[in-house]
Amino acid sequence: MKQKYLVAFDQGTTSTRTIIFDEKGQIKAIAQKELTQHYPKSGWVEHNPIEIFNDQQATFLDALQKSGITPDEIAAVGITNQRETTVVWDKETGEPIYNAIVWLDKRTNEICEDLKNRGLSNYVKEHTGLVIDSYFSATKLKWILESVEGAKEKANDGKLCFGTIDSWLIYKFTNHQKHVTDHTNASRTMIYDIKNLAWDDTLLKALDIPSSLLPRVQPSSSHFGDIDLNGTIIPIYGVAGDQQASLFGQGGFKAGIAKNTYGTGCFMLLNTGNKQVLSQSGLLTTLTCSLESDSVQYALEGSIFVGGASIQWLRDRMNLIDNAADTEEICNSIPPLKNIYVVPAFAGLGAPYWDADAKGSIYGMTLDTGKNEIIKATVEALAYQTKDVITAMIKDSGKEMITLKVDGGASANNYLMQFQSDILNVAVDRPKMIEVTAFGAALLAGIKAGVWTKNDIETIREVDTIFTTQMKPKVRKKKYKGWLKAIERTQTLKKKNTSPV
Ligand code: G3P
Repeated sequence: MKQKYLVAFDQGTTSTRTIIFDEKGQIKAIAQKELTQHYPKSGWVEHNPIEIFNDQQATFLDALQKSGITPDEIAAVGITNQRETTVVWDKETGEPIYNAIVWLDKRTNEICEDLKNRGLSNYVKEHTGLVIDSYFSATKLKWILESVEGAKEKANDGKLCFGTIDSWLIYKFTNHQKHVTDHTNASRTMIYDIKNLAWDDTLLKALDIPSSLLPRVQPSSSHFGDIDLNGTIIPIYGVAGDQQASLFGQGGFKAGIAKNTYGTGCFMLLNTGNKQVLSQSGLLTTLTCSLESDSVQYALEGSIFVGGASIQWLRDRMNLIDNAADTEEICNSIPPLKNIYVVPAFAGLGAPYWDADAKGSIYGMTLDTGKNEIIKATVEALAYQTKDVITAMIKDSGKEMITLKVDGGASANNYLMQFQSDILNVAVDRPKMIEVTAFGAALLAGIKAGVWTKNDIETIREVDTIFTTQMKPKVRKKKYKGWLKAIERTQTLKKKNTSPV
């Protein structure tokens, strides 16, 4: 039996999916489950780790059934996941001691302020490539250890495990045998030194986190453990945080290639090769997917916390639309907006502003503003936020951007993609298959399994549309100026961060 199928587990913020790819990189089957969001307090966001594991198992079985293939035809599994989200579980029982604290959760803002006041900002930036923010795992882990009764003692006795979602899934799927993670996920914890490729003792000490909790870190394309599926042994050969996985799936192995994923948030990554560029403009430095045979590479990242989540907000909280897909027609049905801006700072502002206390706001409404204008302004906000990040990236890298590769759910929206190209004055390249994150995980696994090489991406990735600018420079300038004004009014920091232009 030829093992020619690659299975990707894609565990995202709002859904858990399994996608099966054949050796040509074509999708054979998809299965998906929505993930329950828990908001116990304002600014808090949690997931149930047991639900995550159960859903991953269920979608795996479902996708297998839909595909009609048998387990012994699977070459390997690749896992890609929402990053930073933090789980702590009991080493003996495998039971989580608290819900997963999601990357969007803001409960640790005060711990972050304290770290800043202790003068750790530069240290964190130089060693982890990150800024001190509740977004990353470190302060969430600290919070769990200090808030769950008996956790600190257990941790000190070496009885607990910490992991991001990849580690958690591997631990469960390998029947509690493996406590591991990969370079990309480790680089989002704020306790991992991305130059020396080791957990950072200074930060562990500053946060009072025992090193016995931490997973072993491996290259993204390597052997992470095995899944026993009713007697068939399937290796896990690929693991990567979802944004690095999509950069890999877009063929972003070389310096100079950039991609933007329009998921729950929007995440733009620019591969900077072996060079660890430290941003002067509010971007992050992070590890890209690593192979056993190559040295690690770095990327500059602009993390926008609320992207597609704002379209869900229009649907689920504001009841302005029935389906996310309706937004394209609505945007096309009304004339260009005149100075109306939605700033979706529902989880604060991420890159390049880093203002944890900022809140969502709408500006420029008049009596003729209706629901369609609010919808259109919300869609356009994804493009404006991306422009903020790209401007910072050009500043940091010193290089103009010619083309931006895109993927993720909202990249299917033609209005948004055209507006994105217009507002950036950059060509936007959308591939035919927009499940690039899952494909990136499958590619990592397929390389280790010997099914693919990196170069196969050239034949697998097909362009769907290249959107090019149609907007007049004067109009672009005016619209973006209005956006920057709206951002300025949204910021809460006493000394407002300078705009990226
Ligand atoms: O850093 C958070 C990111 O990994 C979440 O991605 O696709 O779940 O929005 P997504």
